[in-house]
Amino acid sequence: MATLTLQVLCSILFTFSYLSSNLAQHDTYIIHMDSSAIPKAFSDHHSWYSATLSSVSDNSKAATSSLIYAYTGSIHGFSASLTPSELETLQKTPGYISFTPDRPLTMHTTHTSQFLGLSSASGAWSASSHGHDVIIGLVDTGIWPESESFKDDGMTQIPSRWKGKCESGTQFNSSLCNKKLIGARYFNKGLLAKNPKVNITMNSPRDTSGHGTHTSSTAAGNFVKGATYFGYATGTSKGMAPRARIAMYKAGWRYGVYSSDVLAAIDQAIQDGIDILSLSLGFSLDANVLQDDPIAIASFAAMEKGVMVVASAGNEGPLYGTLGNGAPWVLTVGAGTIDREFHGILTLGNGMQITFVSMYPGNSSLTQVSLVFLNGCKSVEEMKKNKNKIVVCKDNLSLSTQVYNAKSARVYGAIFISNYSLPEFATKSSFPTAFLGLHEGQTVIDYIKRNNSIPRGSLIYHKTVIGTKPAPMVDIYSSRGPFPSCPSVLKPDLLAPGSSILASWCPTSPVAEVRSHPLFSKFNLESGTSMSAPHVAGVAALIKEVHPDWSPAAIRSALMTTASSLDNTLSPIKDRAYNKRQASPLDIGAGHINPNKALDPGLVYDATAEDYVKLLCAMNYTAAQIRIITKSTYNCENRSLDLNYPSFIVFFNEYDSNSKAKVVHEFRRTVTNVREGRWTYTANVTGMNGLIKVKVEPEKLVFKQKYEKQSYKLSLEGPKPLKEVVVHGSLSWVNDDGKYVVRSPIVVTSLVPESLLRA
Ligand SMILES: *[C@@H]1O[C@H](CO)[C@@H](O)[C@H](O)[C@H]1NC(C)=O
Ligand SMILES: *[C@@H]1O[C@H](CO)[C@@H](O)[C@H](O)[C@H]1NC(C)=O
Ligand SMILES: *[C@@H]1O[C@H](CO)[C@@H](O)[C@H](O)[C@H]1NC(C)=O
Ligand SMILES: *[C@@H]1O[C@H](CO)[C@@H](O)[C@H](O)[C@H]1NC(C)=O
Ligand SMILES: *[C@@H]1O[C@H](CO)[C@@H](O)[C@H](O)[C@H]1NC(C)=O
Ligand SMILES: *[C@@H]1O[C@H](CO)[C@@H](O)[C@H](O)[C@H]1NC(C)=O
Ligand SMILES: *[C@@H]1O[C@H](CO)[C@@H](O)[C@H](O)[C@H]1NC(C)=O
Ligand SMILES: *[C@@H]1O[C@H](CO)[C@@H](O)[C@H](O)[C@H]1NC(C)=O
Ligand SMILES: *[C@@H]1O[C@H](CO)[C@@H](O)[C@H](O)[C@H]1NC(C)=O
Repeated sequence: MATLTLQVLCSILFTFSYLSSNLAQHDTYIIHMDSSAIPKAFSDHHSWYSATLSSVSDNSKAATSSLIYAYTGSIHGFSASLTPSELETLQKTPGYISFTPDRPLTMHTTHTSQFLGLSSASGAWSASSHGHDVIIGLVDTGIWPESESFKDDGMTQIPSRWKGKCESGTQFNSSLCNKKLIGARYFNKGLLAKNPKVNITMNSPRDTSGHGTHTSSTAAGNFVKGATYFGYATGTSKGMAPRARIAMYKAGWRYGVYSSDVLAAIDQAIQDGIDILSLSLGFSLDANVLQDDPIAIASFAAMEKGVMVVASAGNEGPLYGTLGNGAPWVLTVGAGTIDREFHGILTLGNGMQITFVSMYPGNSSLTQVSLVFLNGCKSVEEMKKNKNKIVVCKDNLSLSTQVYNAKSARVYGAIFISNYSLPEFATKSSFPTAFLGLHEGQTVIDYIKRNNSIPRGSLIYHKTVIGTKPAPMVDIYSSRGPFPSCPSVLKPDLLAPGSSILASWCPTSPVAEVRSHPLFSKFNLESGTSMSAPHVAGVAALIKEVHPDWSPAAIRSALMTTASSLDNTLSPIKDRAYNKRQASPLDIGAGHINPNKALDPGLVYDATAEDYVKLLCAMNYTAAQIRIITKSTYNCENRSLDLNYPSFIVFFNEYDSNSKAKVVHEFRRTVTNVREGRWTYTANVTGMNGLIKVKVEPEKLVFKQKYEKQSYKLSLEGPKPLKEVVVHGSLSWVNDDGKYVVRSPIVVTSLVPESLLRA
C-alpha cells in the first residue's frame, strides 16, 4: 500500500513538473467537455473530440492516435495522451470544462487476514428468489470462465434487453460465455498509453490474478459442491444471488489499473444494460473532491440510469477518515469477520493440547517431534543445527524476522510466541507453524524447561470450526468513515463478510506456497473489502428481482435499515481493532447485512438524482464542478445538506460563541411505505450516551396505503464542541406488532473532516 501511495504522489509531482517545463513528454488526461457545445458540423461526439485533438496537436499526424477513449455516458468527454503544451491549448478550445490526470487505482484485497471462514449470509435467500433476471456487472481483473461457479445449469434464457458482448482475445473464445456469464470485455488502452512498452500476455477478459473470479463468484456464483481450500472450509460454494447473470469488464491488469480504463469499462457496462455494478477497487488513501474522482462521476451516471453501484470502502483502516468510494449515490461497504475459523492443534508430550488459528495448506503433520526453545530465533545458523525439530521462538524481535529465519533454516516446524493480536503470517504459512499468545506460549516454554528427558510436540492442521463468537466483528483493515470529501453523509453504509471468504479462483494463479513450491487451487480464501462489496451486490440483485421498480436509493435503504447492529452473542458488533471495543457507525455503518429482512423493509428512504445535486449545491460546489459530476446544468436555487438518507451524522466540532448554550441540529426525512395496507409506526431512539438530547416529531407515522410518504423531523441537542470523539445511537421506526423495525444509525462527532483530508 505504501508504495502505491508513493506512486500516486510521484505521478502528481511529475504532472506538475511537466506543466512547468517544456519537455514534449506525453501524459494521459481525462478531459471533461460540455457535450451541448458540440458544433453543428459534427455528427457525433467522437468525431468532435478527434477534431478538437487534431486542432491542438503539436504534431497533427499523431493526433488521432492520442485519443484513448471517447466516453459516452459515464462522463462527457474523452481521455487522451497529451504534451503539456497540447493540454494548455486544449483548455482554450470551445466546450472544454476541466481535466484530471489519469491515475492508478488498487484492488481492495488484503492478504493479511487470520480468521477464515465461509459466508454466514449464504442460504438467506428464499427459494423463490435467486435473481435470474438481474445482471450484475463487475469492473475487475477479468474472469476464469471455466470455473464451475460460472456454469449455467438451471439458468433461463438471457434477458432480451441485454446488449452486452463476449469479446474474444488471448485464450478467450467468445463461445466461453453462457447463460450465467453473459458478457466479458476488456479495457487497456489507458494502461498502454501510460506504459507503451508493457507486454500484455493475457490480452482478453481472462483473469490471471484470481481477484475478478473471486468477486464475481461471491456475487453470483452458481452452486459448486465440494469446494475447499486444501481441506479447509469444505462445502457447497455459492454466490449471494446464484441465479443472477454476470458481466465482467476487465480493467484491472497486473501492470496497473488506470482510471481511464475503469471509466471506459463503467461507460460500456451502463450501455450494455447491467442492473447492479460491483466495484472492488479504488484510489489508495488519496481523498479527492468528488469531481476529481472518476468512480464518483461514473457512478452518478449509473445511478441516473437506475443502476445500483456497490463499492468497497477500502482496506486502509482502522483510523477514522480512511474511507474511499463514499459518494452519496454509491453504497459503500466495509468488511467484517464471520463465525468460522481454521485451526491447528499443538499436542505436547505431556498430553496438553493448545489450539491456534492457522490455514497452513500443507499435508504434513508433525508427530512427536522434539521441541527446542531458542529465545528470539535470531541466528539462522543455530536454527539450522536444530532443523529436525520444532523450534520455539519468543522475543520482542520483529515477528516477520523470526518467521523469515525459521523458513531460511528449513526447520521442521516452528512455534512463535508473541503478544501480537494480529499475527499476519498465521494465515497461509508456507511451513508448519503455530502462532501463540504470551500465556499459552509460557505453558510451552515451561513444559520444555521442566522436562528432563526430550520434550516433544505434535502439530496437526486442517480443523474448521463453525460458530465462533463473537461474529461478525469489523476487521482491522476495513476503512473507516467519515468520507472526507462528503462528510455530511454517514459512511460506510454497511458491513458484509470480507475476511477469509472462500470463492472461485484462477487455477493458474498461486494461492499459497509450501516450502517454496507454489500451490494452486480452484478456490481461495481471501480477505478485504473487495470481498464484502460483491456480497452486497448479490443481495441487491435479489431485492431488484423482487422489486424491479425500486430505485438504487430504495434498495440501499432496504439493505441499511434492516442491517443488524448486533453480533451472534446479541451484543453490539465489536471492532477487531482497539481491543474489541464496541464499533460505531463510522466503522460499520447501519450494521451487518441481513439479506432476508432486506427483501421486506416496510419503509424506505428514497432519493433522486436531484436530491444529490441539492447536496452538491449546499456543499458550495461551483456550477462547473456540478456539471462535471451530473453532466447537466443545474441552478442551485435549492440547496440542502440534508439528503434523504437512512442514516444521520452531525459534526459538533467548533466552539459555539455562547459556550454555555446547547446547540441544536435538525434533520428532515421522508419515508415511503412499501407494503400494502394501513401501517402505524412509532419512533424509538436508543443510545446517544445521555450526552445528546434527541427529539423526533411526530413520534407516530400513519400510512393509509402503499407508496404513501410521511415526513418527520429529528433534532439533536448537545454541547459544542462535543467532548467525546464519537457519540452514537439509532432511531428506529417500529410498527405496532414489531414486525418492521426500520433502523437508522445516528452519529454526533467532534472529528474535523477537513483535518482528515490527505493531499
Ligand atoms: C470458438 O470455439 C468454437 C467452438 O469450440 C469454435 O468453433 C470456434 O472456431 C472458436 N473460435 C475461435 C476464434 O477460436
Ligand atoms: C513480448 O512477449 C513476446 C512473447 O512472449 C516476446 O516475443 C516479446 O519479445 C515481448 N516484448 C517485449 C517488449 O518484452
Ligand atoms: C517429558 O516429555 C515426554 C515426551 O517427550 C513425556 O513423556 C514426559 O511426560 C514429559 N515429562 C514431563 C515432566 O512433562
Ligand atoms: C496433499 O496430498 C494430496 C493427495 O495425496 C496431493 O494431491 C496434494 O498435492 C498434497 N498437497 C500438498 C500441498 O503437498
Ligand atoms: C527488547 O526489549 C528490551 C526492553 O524493552 C530492549 O532493551 C531490547 O533492546 C529489545 N530487543 C529487541 C531485539 O528489540
Ligand atoms: C507487546 O510487547 C511489547 C514489547 O515487550 C510491548 O512494548 C507492548 O506494549 C506489548 N503489547 C501488548 C498489547 O501487550
Ligand atoms: C457554503 O457557503 C456558505 C456561505 O459562504 C457557508 O455559510 C457554508 O458554511 C458553506 N457550506 C459548506 C458545506 O462549506
Ligand atoms: C426548487 O424547489 C421548488 C419547490 O420545490 C421548485 O418549485 C423549483 O422548481 C426548484 N428549483 C429548481 C431549480 O429545481
Ligand atoms: C425501544 O428502545 C428500547 C431501548 O431504548 C428497547 O429496549 C426496546 O426494545 C425498543 N423497542 C422496540 C419495539 O424496538
